[in-house]
Amino acid sequence: MDFSRFVVVLLFSCLILRIVSQSVIQNWPESRNSGNLDLISINRKIRRLDTLFCDSWRFTVETNDAGFWEKIPKRCLRFVEDYMTGDRYVSDSDVVTDDSLSFASTVEIAGDGKDIWVFDIDETLLSNVPYYQLYGFGSEFYNETTWDEWINLAEAPALPASLRLYRELRRLGFKVFLLTGRPEAQRNVTKKNLLYAGYRNWERLIFRGDSEEGKRAVVYKSEKRMEMEAEGYRIHGNSGDQWSDLLGSALAKRSFKLPNPVYYKVEIRAILILSPVTGRFREFCDSWRLTVETNNAGLWEKIPKRCLRLMQEYMTGERYMPDSDIFTEDSMSFASTVEDSMTLTTRCSLICSTTNSMDSGLHLAVAMLQVFLLSGRPEAQRNTTEKILLSVGYRNWEGLILRATSDEGKLAVVYKSEKRIEMEAEGYRIHGNPGDQWSDLLGFSMAKRSFKLPNPMYYIT
Ligand SMILES: *[C@@H]1O[C@H](CO)[C@@H](O)[C@H](O)[C@H]1NC(C)=O
Ligand SMILES: *[C@@H]1O[C@H](CO)[C@@H](O)[C@H](O)[C@H]1NC(C)=O
Ligand SMILES: *[C@@H]1O[C@H](CO)[C@@H](O)[C@H](O)[C@H]1NC(C)=O
Repeated sequence: MDFSRFVVVLLFSCLILRIVSQSVIQNWPESRNSGNLDLISINRKIRRLDTLFCDSWRFTVETNDAGFWEKIPKRCLRFVEDYMTGDRYVSDSDVVTDDSLSFASTVEIAGDGKDIWVFDIDETLLSNVPYYQLYGFGSEFYNETTWDEWINLAEAPALPASLRLYRELRRLGFKVFLLTGRPEAQRNVTKKNLLYAGYRNWERLIFRGDSEEGKRAVVYKSEKRMEMEAEGYRIHGNSGDQWSDLLGSALAKRSFKLPNPVYYKVEIRAILILSPVTGRFREFCDSWRLTVETNNAGLWEKIPKRCLRLMQEYMTGERYMPDSDIFTEDSMSFASTVEDSMTLTTRCSLICSTTNSMDSGLHLAVAMLQVFLLSGRPEAQRNTTEKILLSVGYRNWEGLILRATSDEGKLAVVYKSEKRIEMEAEGYRIHGNPGDQWSDLLGFSMAKRSFKLPNPMYYIT
């Protein structure tokens, strides 16, 4: 039997490498290494208070690390309620609108009526917070009866940030397409509700037809976008609160993920009049971090000056480690579903007891058989890279791939895609791909599941 058919590949892009090497080795004298490694060491005790846990949980949900989930964790009910009804949700969605507009303003509108922006409706244009407030903020299962009653009221308010975006896009000359998972039968009430909330002059309002019932949201929405492209429309932007709004085919040039820690998928469930953003640094910077982690911000060069202290607090305080821990739990729970992986774990058993390296990465390496490390570092750093990997506890990787001279100057996303294509050509099946940069995860030959590690410090294209 072909050995490669049993292979489980894990691509490790190099949060670990970068953090350990750049921050520690290059910036600090050798003698201080161990002290600095304590910052991210296994020995470091984190108190997993509910707020902390729930904030980390929210991170994995917004980055899609969690994949499918059904209900918010019980202990996070209060957290999600505070998030949705307090200043954070308003602030987070405001920053998404700012990101969207800064992209939109760079688009040249041809004037032929074909430049469009696609919006989802629920939790994107309209907010159902009033409903969720009555029904447990995502802690209860979807109830069609109460949900339909709410929809038929047609009184969902606009998400203020989205109404601002919508109006500004219209002013810039975009045509707006609304693409919702709601059924055709709800067309009239939905139209009434959109008008009630202040939306006007959309180009098209698309509902799920009878023949599309039961299709996965990501398929249904991709097909509809493909039809738009076939009609000659250019999809510049796409705003949605669900990853199924944004992934698939006929993708927009830029997609914008709105926050939603209440539910996953297209089932819907609600706003009081939200208080205005206070503009305090903490909220702004937390929102900034979310847009960076979800790739809404696109390319960014430096942390905003006013967030420097908070990002320092994030990286060295009690937030970064739990965020990465939850990432590991998500990855492990996926890894355990991969056939054959559990029978093939013996080679890594040495690693488990080592300290002084990043917890998350270590646990992952233990679960998988074949691990490929794919780094943007140059070939010239092979020896130092191997040395630091071994010194912090990693063993038995299958391959360590570094940038050859011929790869210099390539965009990271191109270089990494090419390497993954080569692996697939050799017969490897790429199941998982953790990385702190979106360029680690996007492109071609993508893993079955990608896992985004937190990194609010820098962006690599
Ligand atoms: C949905 O809500 C209605 C009204 O509160 C209730 O009668 C019904 O049992 C609920 N259905 C489910 C499946 O929980
Ligand atoms: C929706 O409104 C149109 C015209 O106002 C009407 O003809 C149609 O029957 C309505 N559809 C439903 C499902 O109520
Ligand atoms: C790396 O190590 C190998 C063997 O240990 C040595 O032959 C080689 O010259 C080293 N390369 C660099 C760039 O230091």
